[in-house]
Amino acid sequence: MEIERVASGSGIPERPIAMFDSGFGGLTVARAVIDLLPGEDLVYFGDTGRYPYGSRPLEQVREFAVQISDRLVADYDPKMVVVACNTATAAALSVLRERISVPVIGVIEPGLRSLLEVTSTGRVGVIGTVGTVASGSYQRAVAESRPEVELVCAACPGFVEFVERGDTRSDQVRVLAERLLAPIQAADVDALLLGCTHYPFLARTIGDVMGRGVTLVSSADETAFAVARILESTGLRSSRREGGTQRFLSSGDVDAFAHLGRRLLGPELGVVEAHRWDIT
Ligand code: DGL
Repeated sequence: MEIERVASGSGIPERPIAMFDSGFGGLTVARAVIDLLPGEDLVYFGDTGRYPYGSRPLEQVREFAVQISDRLVADYDPKMVVVACNTATAAALSVLRERISVPVIGVIEPGLRSLLEVTSTGRVGVIGTVGTVASGSYQRAVAESRPEVELVCAACPGFVEFVERGDTRSDQVRVLAERLLAPIQAADVDALLLGCTHYPFLARTIGDVMGRGVTLVSSADETAFAVARILESTGLRSSRREGGTQRFLSSGDVDAFAHLGRRLLGPELGVVEAHRWDIT
């Protein structure tokens, strides 16, 4: 299981927290961090020019994650890096922790912690991208920490594309959800982890399909709590308790990012800065 790194960075609490995802999904984590830690500065990178990650080989996602983290560290000197993407966490968390001298946190461990707290029957589900589910990260983590828990995982290809198009409630996404969630319904789980940071934007649709007996769990809040805990324990928490700034970068269409991003995240998402990769 992913272990929260608590080694101190260079001890400068007023530096920003850097965060990245393939696109809009990590905004669910950004929202939770802004709400819990409003005094912290945040730099968010959405790699919309190269999304989706979930259908790419994990080696390639690892390369992208390393490239983005290196860039964020070089340009913004963050005090912490949050990998706000399950696929990138599965592919690259341990590599990033070896490479980067400040704390690096992913979304898999926090999400799983919430899921295991919520279940009372011990039968749980995780949905994620093809890459995340195929990586076996959740399956391994459960087998190591709570072998008595029955876990069923399902990949949900197509969900991310609906979110990136801003379609979270149409009949088409509902039909897809009914098909992709059928194995989870058949497994009679009482809790379902949205193991892709895009999926909380589809929570109404997923919740309608799964029914009231299944509690949906998102990794966003628990990840924000983990960020707060690490900042406190390493002395890296900003002395400010409000007034943190947010900065957003995208490798894709910045106007589209600003438009949909504001709808998904809220008013903190203002100007979006462009970032171009040489290789895509
Ligand atoms: N939001 C990401 C995740 O949590 C990746 C989605 C994608 O680009 O496929 O897995």
